[in-house]
Amino acid sequence: MEKEHTYQDTRAPIAERVRDLMAHMTLVEKIGQMAQVENRSITPAEVTQHAIGSVLSGGGGNPEPNTPENWAAMVRGYEEAALQTRLGIPLLYGADAVHGHSNVKGSVVFPHNIGLGASRDASLVERIGRITALEALATGIHWTFAPAVSIPQDIRWGRTYEGFGEDTDLVSRLGMAQLQGLQNRDGVPDLGHPRTVLASVKHFVGDGGTTWGSNTTNDWIIDQGVTELDEATLRAVHLPPYVAALEAGARNIMVSHSSWGGLRMHAHKYLLTDVLKAELGFPGFLVSDWGSIDAIAPDYQTAVVTSINAGVDMVMVPYDGHRFITHLTQAAENGDVPLDRIEDAVRRVLTVKFELGLFERPFGDESLLPLLGSEAHRAVAREAVRKSLVLLKNDGGTLPLSRNIPVLLVAGQAADDIGLQCGGWTIAWQGSSGDVTPGTTVLAGIRSAVSENTVVRYDPAGKFDAAESLGAEVVSDVAIVVLAEEPYAEGEGDRADLNLRDGDVALVERVRCRCRKLVVILMSGRPLIVTEHLPQWDAFVAAWLPGTEGDGIAQALFGETPFSGKLSFTWPRSMDQVPLSALRASEEAPLFPFGYGLT
Ligand code: BGC
Ligand code: BGC
Repeated sequence: MEKEHTYQDTRAPIAERVRDLMAHMTLVEKIGQMAQVENRSITPAEVTQHAIGSVLSGGGGNPEPNTPENWAAMVRGYEEAALQTRLGIPLLYGADAVHGHSNVKGSVVFPHNIGLGASRDASLVERIGRITALEALATGIHWTFAPAVSIPQDIRWGRTYEGFGEDTDLVSRLGMAQLQGLQNRDGVPDLGHPRTVLASVKHFVGDGGTTWGSNTTNDWIIDQGVTELDEATLRAVHLPPYVAALEAGARNIMVSHSSWGGLRMHAHKYLLTDVLKAELGFPGFLVSDWGSIDAIAPDYQTAVVTSINAGVDMVMVPYDGHRFITHLTQAAENGDVPLDRIEDAVRRVLTVKFELGLFERPFGDESLLPLLGSEAHRAVAREAVRKSLVLLKNDGGTLPLSRNIPVLLVAGQAADDIGLQCGGWTIAWQGSSGDVTPGTTVLAGIRSAVSENTVVRYDPAGKFDAAESLGAEVVSDVAIVVLAEEPYAEGEGDRADLNLRDGDVALVERVRCRCRKLVVILMSGRPLIVTEHLPQWDAFVAAWLPGTEGDGIAQALFGETPFSGKLSFTWPRSMDQVPLSALRASEEAPLFPFGYGLT
């Protein structure tokens, strides 16, 4: 069929299609392409009405009930609405598929990046990216807000686990691998391929380097704070992952909620435009973070003008898209934002939409739905869990355990809780404990790993009461205690004190006197302070936030697979060694150095 316009002609070069399309667009339609609204704040009809360019699901922006099919239907509904606009410009739908497509009930949930960092395995991280792309596309989604290439320098930060590690080179290498998994086909960037999605490299720049107590925007403490570094250090520590991502074909970067050099990043023309776009030649578009332009100034008009002039191309509004469009249109009409700047932003957004093939294939691919959460995908997650485990102590060869052990005590709520295994950014923004999505708990993994003659006795509280058949003073050869942090995301996880909680200490002590050998498994988004308790433990495994496949832990415990993970963060001896700068100034060695891990 003959297409009417050049922009509809798939044989025309993308630059020409963009030019032609923009020649047909009104100012308001252009500005619509710069607006991103969250699904909980907009209907498909409003997407048509205001010619909105992008919709996102933030953490927990889920359909009800939360099923893969409902996700696909929801996204399809928004896409159809966009196609009904005058020019039929497809919508770009984004979501936080940050450890798998983790808002979707039934998806495979991979370990958070901190655990992948411990694996040191770039090809594994790339495969994870590829699987995440398939699960996203199954639900119609072409864009994930990943990889985070944060380089957390202070483990009190609630986003520590979103970083692959504290080391720039490690983060650059694995961030690039994740990006390539999402965007590449056969080893080369191929956004137009029907099995790839757009990655968002985040959060530009210095999000992992903020100072404790420097957040003055809301009641979080270090998240969204100020990165107090000179430019040379900012560039040396926090910029390299972006340089690597650009070389690997990054087309979208998310701006950080943090500040540097007396300015919020969303107002930072020097870093966004002069450094990233001009000096480094970033050809894609910059998306702002959730409501973050609002923090630039109390007056919204000023906030809009400043952020767009600084170089933001698409605004994650996220609530009132119409208000944003009205303000930016006014600013463009009165010259506060030069028309060139609008043109540049829209050109960047539309170019990526064409590169993604959205004009030809706006809908993703629902034929992929059977793959979502499939056994093949879970097998890769299980491999990732095994490779992410870091064995920190193993006295007297406690591990691996024998499958034929007669009685095995297992304690801790976290031993049997998918939600605790997954952490934040799982089904809900903050995550939650409980049976949040299908998966295998550590306990279930242990039960299927042991011999049929083994009695596994599970007591979340670790009491193993006298009423049980084995008598009052149960003494087993081995007990496993699984501890976990309560799930959190972003600044909700900012914590001044990382010592083990009293309840956890008491739990471990209760179990200690019921067994000869005690194995402690810690699921956490960062190292916790365990120094004074560790002498009581025979074996200690850091399992990070492993996700849905807890049997990967059981496989390692029983020696089916070796421990191989290495710390991606230094493990401090006490809070006096936090943040990293304090550790470097400390005369004492850390409890375990970066890169430590027994085999
Ligand atoms: C977070 C981003 C996330 C976005 C959308 C923001 O508050 O900082 O990492 O992608 O919300 O959920
Ligand atoms: C959203 C998140 C977002 C956060 C920012 C939440 O309501 O679900 O995606 O990052 O707000 O504060």
